[in-house]
Amino acid sequence: MLFSPLQVGPWRLKNRIVHASMSLRYGASQGMHPGYHQYYLNRARGGSALIITDPVGFLPTHGPERVCAWNDSMADDLCRFAQAIRDQDCHLLAQIQDNGRARRVPGRVSGLRGASALPDDLFYAMPEELTPAELEAFVEAAADAARRLQRCGYTGVELSAGHGHLFHQFLSPHTNLREDGYGATLAGRSRLLEEVCQAIRQTCGKGFMLAVKLPGDDGLRDGVTPPLAAQIARHLVAQVPVDLLSYTQGTHHHTLEMHLPDDSYPRQPFMSLIRRLKAETPAVPVMALGRITDPAEAEGILARGDAELVALGRALVTDPAWPLKAQRGMARSIRYCVSCNSCWGTIIQGLPIACDNNPRVAHPHELDADLPAAAAPKRIAVVGAGISGLEAAMTAAQRGHQVTLWGHGAMPGGKAQLQSRLPISESLSSIADYQYMQLQRLGVDLRLGQRASAQDVLAIQPQAVVLATGATMVWPQALPTRLRDEGWVQDLREVVVDLLKRPGAQAGVAVLYDLDQTAGTYAAAELLKDKFEQVVILCGRESVAQDVPLVVRQRIQRRCAERGIEILTQVEPVWTDLMEDEGSLAYRSIFGGALRYIDQVVLITYATPRKPDVDLWAPLRDSGGPVYRIGDCLLARDPMAATAEGHAIGMRL
Ligand SMILES: Cc1cc2nc3c(=O)[nH]c(=O)nc-3n(C[C@H](O)[C@H](O)[C@H](O)COP(=O)(O)O)c2cc1C
Repeated sequence: MLFSPLQVGPWRLKNRIVHASMSLRYGASQGMHPGYHQYYLNRARGGSALIITDPVGFLPTHGPERVCAWNDSMADDLCRFAQAIRDQDCHLLAQIQDNGRARRVPGRVSGLRGASALPDDLFYAMPEELTPAELEAFVEAAADAARRLQRCGYTGVELSAGHGHLFHQFLSPHTNLREDGYGATLAGRSRLLEEVCQAIRQTCGKGFMLAVKLPGDDGLRDGVTPPLAAQIARHLVAQVPVDLLSYTQGTHHHTLEMHLPDDSYPRQPFMSLIRRLKAETPAVPVMALGRITDPAEAEGILARGDAELVALGRALVTDPAWPLKAQRGMARSIRYCVSCNSCWGTIIQGLPIACDNNPRVAHPHELDADLPAAAAPKRIAVVGAGISGLEAAMTAAQRGHQVTLWGHGAMPGGKAQLQSRLPISESLSSIADYQYMQLQRLGVDLRLGQRASAQDVLAIQPQAVVLATGATMVWPQALPTRLRDEGWVQDLREVVVDLLKRPGAQAGVAVLYDLDQTAGTYAAAELLKDKFEQVVILCGRESVAQDVPLVVRQRIQRRCAERGIEILTQVEPVWTDLMEDEGSLAYRSIFGGALRYIDQVVLITYATPRKPDVDLWAPLRDSGGPVYRIGDCLLARDPMAATAEGHAIGMRL
């Protein structure tokens, strides 16, 4: 069914695959950014039937971050863009969305408007209540932008009424305390959304598609709960003829993570809710949304009649050719989304969207199975079969180089593969799975299970060497180094390797000293919780997981709370005889003060920043040929840096 066409009103969609709206953050201060155009063009070429763009600017306050639809200044760009997408037999919707009071910057932001004068639940930004006159202008501006987009050749618009943004702020009793006609009752709270829908209908007519993304469950008891979501959907559809509906979860609160479900959620986690909500508005086609990553899952959703369309967000960031590959029976060669939410992390930092498992996002050659050939094929040695070395070897081989790759583990994937064996991390394995499959297809000389020496590398007479040999955690300075040799305190990775082999659980407390703050450390904490009665994280900073995107941090904090993993912040361990004599580990605030104790400690492990493993660097460099360091072997960072650098060197060679 995934490739059967669907008639939605007057529009024929060639298949059932929709690109969900995602902010890309290319910026538009110089007009439409070439990366923006290329990103969507690649997804249209990749076979999606309908693309919903990121939010366009329909008010001057939306600024140069967004593609401008509030006046004609970018109309030529918009027309060219819409034509390019239409040329691929793909329909195009622009998203209409306003953040209202929701901001992700600390401190007090001025000039914000919201449904009520209530602070944002994440960053406490304080809005002023929108007046009826401002609301009228808002409605007019949205309709005016829709008319402009229609003239430029867009099929329609999607109103985003979820995610804790302005429409959601009006819909939810948690954020809307108004007593005028825009609050107080369900009809009042829905009025702004309905007025915008109606104004667009009146201005653009029935030949302009109108999709609405509604909150399905924002995770707050006094917010939009599933029963309230059902009432809102019924009410909306009774007031305005909507062409398409979808549902999103979470809101701008501690439940924000729900909008980007990761491995801590089941696959397609919200399908039963979507099915129930769809039954409330049987006449309107529904797009299923939320962690749909695999064509077989998508097919199942359609076959069961749970939705008419499947909307893919992150899955299409990772592989724009997902639809084409699915259609050609090549699902195995899809690069799968690993639900790590790094893409969201990049855009929240104001950077263009990027992906751990797709270093080529928005590149002109993003869809190509093999990359432009190298001018002169060379013999290349890659040492290290982590995801950085694998990406380098794959990219170089795709360009026609003759590549030999060494990896000391029997399996490719390095530390990412180890992490994928931890709780709630399984998806991560597909980065290396894909790379490995490609290396086999490309005939790369794979020497796994071999720790390469400089002589081994030089024996193949390489014309260039790429070192991707990873990094090792540094010893935590708060503890005497003798504890390592005496076995009292161990590297978390070594502990994990050992625990994965050990069945069952044991009594006592495992203490994890966290100076790392990345996701793998907390996945390991969950493994510790599977294996020990209690786990305590001693954290050097103000909170755990500060080096991961907010949504990932929320998930980590939720899991620790749910699983009873205790977190002590801004503390450090202090070694005393009591630990050696009685198993009581002392710790104290990093600012000083009295010692406190954790009793019945049976394991102490640490996660710290890592230093590059560069043993081969000097001997190979001295041998004369070019030697490059990439990934953690250059500077230990995250998987995104690893694949990006692997790709970059593969292109440079
Ligand atoms: C990087 C990123 C940016 C997003 N930006 C928006 C946005 O601007 N508007 C919106 O309605 N949803 C946005 N979303 C949410 C997606 O539309 C979608 O609801 C979510 O990613 C879940 O779908 P998925 O599991 O297929 O990724 C964004 C998601 C991501 C990953």
